[in-house]
Amino acid sequence: MGRLKDKIVLVTGAARGIGQAVSELFCEEGATVILSDINDELGQKVATDIGGKAEYHHLDVSSEKDWEETSNYILEKYGKLDVLINNAGITGFLETSGPHDPEHLDIDSWNKVHSVNLDGVAFGCKEAIRLMKGSISASIVNLSSRSGMVGIPGAAAYASSKAAIRNHTKTVALYCAEKGYPIRCNSIHPGAILTPIWDAMLGEGEVRKAAIKGIAKDVPLGTMGEAKDVAYAALYLASDESKYVTGIELNVDGGILAGSAAAPSQE
Ligand SMILES: NC(=O)c1ccc[n+]([C@@H]2O[C@H](COP(=O)([O-])OP(=O)(O)OC[C@H]3O[C@@H](n4cnc5c(N)ncnc54)[C@H](O)[C@@H]3O)[C@@H](O)[C@H]2O)c1
Repeated sequence: MGRLKDKIVLVTGAARGIGQAVSELFCEEGATVILSDINDELGQKVATDIGGKAEYHHLDVSSEKDWEETSNYILEKYGKLDVLINNAGITGFLETSGPHDPEHLDIDSWNKVHSVNLDGVAFGCKEAIRLMKGSISASIVNLSSRSGMVGIPGAAAYASSKAAIRNHTKTVALYCAEKGYPIRCNSIHPGAILTPIWDAMLGEGEVRKAAIKGIAKDVPLGTMGEAKDVAYAALYLASDESKYVTGIELNVDGGILAGSAAAPSQE
């Protein structure tokens, strides 16, 4: 308890899934957490359920105007920001009509996915740098993906946007170090974490159960992960325990990225 005592934290996409788990854990660890999302009803409910030092604020991460408004709100109310969890992200499967493969690329779908996943993170880093100069020790955590490390034939825009987040994280980390700002920046690469983002891919009922089993079979640790598995990784990167850590990629994927298919074997 208290690993984030006195920290002011902004979490994007906090109404459910990983963002919700991060917000809950960070409040338990003593932070003041501003939960943000475009799903205002759910986001407000989650913040109210957490209670204490949690509050909800509307923020569409793809809108620079929303970012400026949110930063001004935080600056006025708290005077600084210590931690930003750039978590909001979409696959595009529900939000756009696709297609999502590289051969049949649809530019509107491609742009929409990049505007949320990549522009959202870039705006977030920009605003965070402005706000975090008032912090003694600040941390930006960007949610990339295992899909930012490997190609995904059926989700080209998602994979491209997540790969760009991986690289932008290092640019931000080095820029802040060069400038002498008290800001670290790292990326987390989740894989196969069972949250609502998977709903469009899993189906329902028995089909869903079989699909989860099928995915788990391909995970070295033999199961899909939980949102809180990612929240604990974010907690380390957000806290001062990681004060000498910047520009890293932290995989939280049950070992998926540790190996490769067609590996040599005697069998
Ligand atoms: N679950 C996984 O297996 C997995 C794997 C790799 C990466 N990730 C990444 O982790 C992050 C969180 O994923 P999740 O599984 O919790 O997803 P989720 O779909 O459960 O939650 C995403 C949240 O983001 C919000 N959101 C969507 N568009 C937004 C916008 N424009 N502005 C603000 N909020 C917006 C949604 O309303 C939702 O509350 C995403 O960036 C995702 O790409 C997840």
